[in-house]
Amino acid sequence: MCGIVAYIGSKPAKPLLLEGLKRLEYRGYDSAGLAILDGTLQIAKAVGRVVNLETKLKKLPGFEGSLGLAHTRWATHGGVTELNAHPHRDDKSGIAIVHNGIIENYAALKKLLTERGHTFHSDTDTEVLAVLIGELYEGDLEAAVQAALREVTGAYAICVVCEQEPGVLVCARKGSPLMVGVGSGECVVASDPSAIVAHTSQAFALEDYNVARITREGFRTSTIDNKPVSPKMMQLELDLEQAELGTYEHYMLKEIFEQPTSLRTTMRGRVDLNEGKIVLGGLMDCAKELVKIKRFILIAQGTALHAAMIGEYLLEDLATVPAECEYASEFRYRNPIIEDRTAVIAVSQSGETIDTLSALHEAKDRGALSLGVINVVGSSIARETEAGVYLRVGPEIGVASTKAFTGQVAALTLMSLFLARRRFMSAERTRTLLDALNKIPQAIETALESNDLVRRVTEKYVERDNWLFLGRGYNYPTALEGALKLKEISYIHAEGMPAAEMKHGPIALIDDGMPAVFIANKGPQYEKVINNIEEVRARGGHVIAVATEGDEHIASIAEDVLYVPDVPDCLSPMVTVIPLQLMAYHAAVLRGHDVDKPRNLAKSVTVE
Ligand code: G6P
Repeated sequence: MCGIVAYIGSKPAKPLLLEGLKRLEYRGYDSAGLAILDGTLQIAKAVGRVVNLETKLKKLPGFEGSLGLAHTRWATHGGVTELNAHPHRDDKSGIAIVHNGIIENYAALKKLLTERGHTFHSDTDTEVLAVLIGELYEGDLEAAVQAALREVTGAYAICVVCEQEPGVLVCARKGSPLMVGVGSGECVVASDPSAIVAHTSQAFALEDYNVARITREGFRTSTIDNKPVSPKMMQLELDLEQAELGTYEHYMLKEIFEQPTSLRTTMRGRVDLNEGKIVLGGLMDCAKELVKIKRFILIAQGTALHAAMIGEYLLEDLATVPAECEYASEFRYRNPIIEDRTAVIAVSQSGETIDTLSALHEAKDRGALSLGVINVVGSSIARETEAGVYLRVGPEIGVASTKAFTGQVAALTLMSLFLARRRFMSAERTRTLLDALNKIPQAIETALESNDLVRRVTEKYVERDNWLFLGRGYNYPTALEGALKLKEISYIHAEGMPAAEMKHGPIALIDDGMPAVFIANKGPQYEKVINNIEEVRARGGHVIAVATEGDEHIASIAEDVLYVPDVPDCLSPMVTVIPLQLMAYHAAVLRGHDVDKPRNLAKSVTVE
């Protein structure tokens, strides 16, 4: 989604901002722009990739200063045009602004400002905010920003400069992430730490309704009501090398192949095989409270929701505690009943998904204990939950989430076993499951060896425009995830569903044009899945089965079989998902799509 980078210091801002924008490209965007304040404001914008902006800037004189703002825009209000790209400016005051989020009352504000004689050049909510700040400007940019933000509703992360104050950068946040990296005599502000770490590892995250006024000499932070606040400094630990492509053609492929390593890191130091114990530092402070929890509610969106659905099965099956999983966006807007001893688990790679964050607020307000299963350290959800488990899978750059999914499932498995052992599970059974969990990275390595076969199978069906993904029990969410992956990057229509549900309608779609991917590992519902496969075959559908190594029977009923190692059913999604991730990847490549920058998608969705 939209990305922000801003710089104030002594170095030339332009190359630094362009480099920062490139680090943010993975988040998804459709246009880019930057402003440099060097006596006067200079602004350049381009539709499409950052490289288009870079090419344009090569032909433009100026842009030499050491204070500037830059932005990648993911269109919400107004089409993808240069006029709608950021930065936006207010001509009267010489203010320029970049903004992530949505100003919800922009229409009313725009009407008011138009009545006062202002004209607008774009369709965006952001330009309205620029003009509002300009309208309120009386020689103090920080005060004008504070005053304007008291008038707006919605979500924002903004950076603002003003020609009349050439050494000042003002930033603010509500609901959309913004981080200030503090170096010596310079600051880099960004919506994502990956644009900061190359310059400094000291940073602080702005809190909601907080404003930072930054100069080359230092900074101060306050609320939008001008009450001073002290930011909490943190050490950024992002390893930039981890975010490099290396020898892989795409980040998605790199991250698929990284999963054995990333899962080993998720589990390192957390599994004590000798004692049959799970060590989760992030849960220790509330361990006693957790054991007494009567109901877990898991909230998430997208791929994280599919991992959370597996978490629901794990908590009920292993920890024997009622659990339910829900789209965060739906949970938030119904009237969720939070009874005594309820815990909510927010599952999110980025820790910034606005739907998940808002649902978390709702649950906390209603008295739930709040837990997070998050990848990005120090993200909003990580900061706002009382306890949790980090995924530790490293930065995920591919928009189509892969290693975060297996990391989320592994973290939820550890969390369920942590609870199970403290409730009713014997040391013996815990040890058996932990032993199997420890071997999952190895099983994924084996599953990855089928990459060439998966490509060949995908090639056979890649022209088909409608696919079904079917699974049962633990692998019903895996089927949903397989369908989502295919949709996201191949733009092929795919539906995932419980295999048994097919008979209740979708079976009408089956003909010889429809590939049906079954997750048919040897679990408790294996025989039932085989029946469902027969039903598809009887209607001329093409069956691709993800099956357990050694299962010869399935080869006689499915057209194509992708084998994965035998692991306990409750751990199987981490392995059965591998051929599905590879299938989506190859389909996208074969169809000629940009795998890492799928159309219309954003890595982290920070607007509702
Ligand atoms: C977006 C991404 C998905 C991701 C979802 C939830 O839709 O494109 O890949 O699964 O957000 O993101 P989160 O950061 O909360 O896991």
